[in-house]
Amino acid sequence: MRTTKLGNSGPAIGVVGLGCMGMSEFYGQANDAKSIEVMHHAIDIGVNFFDTADMYGSGKNEELVGRGLKGRRERVVLATKFGVVRGEGGSFKGVSGSPAYVKQACDASLSRLGVDYIDLYYQHRVDPSVPIEDTVGALADLVKSGKIRQIGLSEASEETLRRACKVHPIAALQTELSLWSRDPEGGLLEACRSLGVTFVAYSPLGRGFLTGQIKSLDDLAPDDWRRNMPRFSAENFPKNLELVKKVEEIAKAKKVTSAQLALAWVLSRAPHVTAIPGTRSIQRLEDNAKATDITLTDADSRALDDAFPKDAAAGPRYPEQSMKQVNA
Ligand SMILES: NC(=O)c1ccc[n+]([C@@H]2O[C@H](COP(=O)([O-])OP(=O)(O)OC[C@H]3O[C@@H](n4cnc5c(N)ncnc54)[C@H](OP(=O)(O)O)[C@@H]3O)[C@@H](O)[C@H]2O)c1
Repeated sequence: MRTTKLGNSGPAIGVVGLGCMGMSEFYGQANDAKSIEVMHHAIDIGVNFFDTADMYGSGKNEELVGRGLKGRRERVVLATKFGVVRGEGGSFKGVSGSPAYVKQACDASLSRLGVDYIDLYYQHRVDPSVPIEDTVGALADLVKSGKIRQIGLSEASEETLRRACKVHPIAALQTELSLWSRDPEGGLLEACRSLGVTFVAYSPLGRGFLTGQIKSLDDLAPDDWRRNMPRFSAENFPKNLELVKKVEEIAKAKKVTSAQLALAWVLSRAPHVTAIPGTRSIQRLEDNAKATDITLTDADSRALDDAFPKDAAAGPRYPEQSMKQVNA
């Protein structure tokens, strides 16, 4: 596994990490025992950068990751997030970045994860009602107290990131980046490089769509949250499927899987880019880890650009309300 440094001064992380979100919510039924096997296997093959958040499964995902890490905690660079507040029955209650909330959320995450410290603690969404300087100030206090090692932001704009970096070094920016979500190429990636911030690409497989394994909406469980996503709507799904078919052809010619090609494309954006694909399967985990061995030629990149031009995806990344909270 190729590794990179997390931020300017952090530990080495595999450039392909493990997104744990789908193990507890959003993508249909999951099996805790199998998910823990995936976590253990990930550690054994060098996939050491784990991603969770307090809001995934309303805390259940952090508890699950905590169980998976028992006896193995030191072998993993553990990232979690705060800021998306959920209420009874999993309702979404908005975003909070107030200093008091940051500290309370961190203690709750440490307890659910069963660990003494978090390696990378992200603000999940920027709170427009709290100056970023105040939120990062509270996070800097957590670094001083040893509860967290490094600070990250998710879906922050370039301007917010620059302001945050003036308060405390920011180790990572986690934002969606994939063949069908290419906005960070327009300046954010370069800003991260110049600020010494690792770019962590979330949903690098387009929430599974870019792997070519989702051929019809019937492939998703009735309660699968992707059914609410604009790119999976009855209108947009077939248009996006046509684009994915072209990616599949390129992958076939290169004798790799579409998932591997999609990940190799993300990793080829810049040396400070890492990807955190989510999976609940050991076979897919291995498939994804091997993407680090793939080199994209200029011809491959051109073919992918032709197959999936920037902004070609039908539909925005999120429903309208959630789009207001990204790149903030
Ligand atoms: N910061 C944020 O706002 C934010 C938002 C979304 C996600 N995230 C993080 O990013 C992580 C990854 O994103 P994501 O899970 O949304 O999407 P993703 O990684 O793009 O795709 C995950 C989906 O792809 C499937 N998959 C994985 N590897 C595959 C392979 N080799 N072949 C075929 N299918 C494969 C998975 O199915 P199986 O599980 O069944 O294998 C799952 O349905 C999450 O787990 C979470 O930690 C962060």
